[in-house]
Amino acid sequence: MNTESQKKIAAEKATEDVRSGMVVGLGTGSTVYYALLKLGAMVREGLDIVGIPTSEGTEKIAFAEKIPLTTLATHPTIDLTIDGADEVDAHLNLIKGGGAALVREKIIANASKEILIVVDESKVSRVLGTTFSLPVEIVRFGWEATQTEVNRICGKSTLRQNTSQDGDGSPLITDNGNYILDCHFDGIPAPQAVEMQLNNIPGVVENGIFVNRADKVIIGTASGIRYME
Ligand code: A5P
Repeated sequence: MNTESQKKIAAEKATEDVRSGMVVGLGTGSTVYYALLKLGAMVREGLDIVGIPTSEGTEKIAFAEKIPLTTLATHPTIDLTIDGADEVDAHLNLIKGGGAALVREKIIANASKEILIVVDESKVSRVLGTTFSLPVEIVRFGWEATQTEVNRICGKSTLRQNTSQDGDGSPLITDNGNYILDCHFDGIPAPQAVEMQLNNIPGVVENGIFVNRADKVIIGTASGIRYME
């Protein structure tokens, strides 16, 4: 099974836990995309849910799929969130934010009673921060000074550029109007400490380390589905 099929089976498996009456957190990324398509089909067949998207991109897909949407103001507690990840360790710690949605994803995660993470097998790693650079969202004002402070922790970081189809190579602006630094760690053996240290720097909005958030990781592999709980 190729990577795309692995993403699809993991994402579709997660939708089996969605029941009528639920408030569902809708993650961001190419893996969750398959869950959104499946949820759309389920809604059209009578599933009665409301979703809260973690990004403007997901909001557009959910709208096209006719998944009814709500907000945290109306529904402050989310029953179940389905989201992707860029790297997952054996303790279910995650790096997220490859799609630049980490701030809203962490807010949604914090409001969720249960979180399912859907990934293909390439995302599983022994030590966090060895296969993926850590995204850190920072405000634009004084960003160079913020980067200097961030580099004291990670060594080296890169300001993310807008390389999407319509992107012109200028800095990427998040849905919240901020920049992203991709921080090149050589492994993050103590993720919780690093998560807190980074968030202590003035100018840092949030970072992509998610510790003790995921309840279950659904992994699509070449030979089928595997779980980490
Ligand atoms: C979005 O900011 C991310 O946290 C995504 O959930 C993560 O990057 C996984 O995306 P893919 O499923 O596209 O790899």
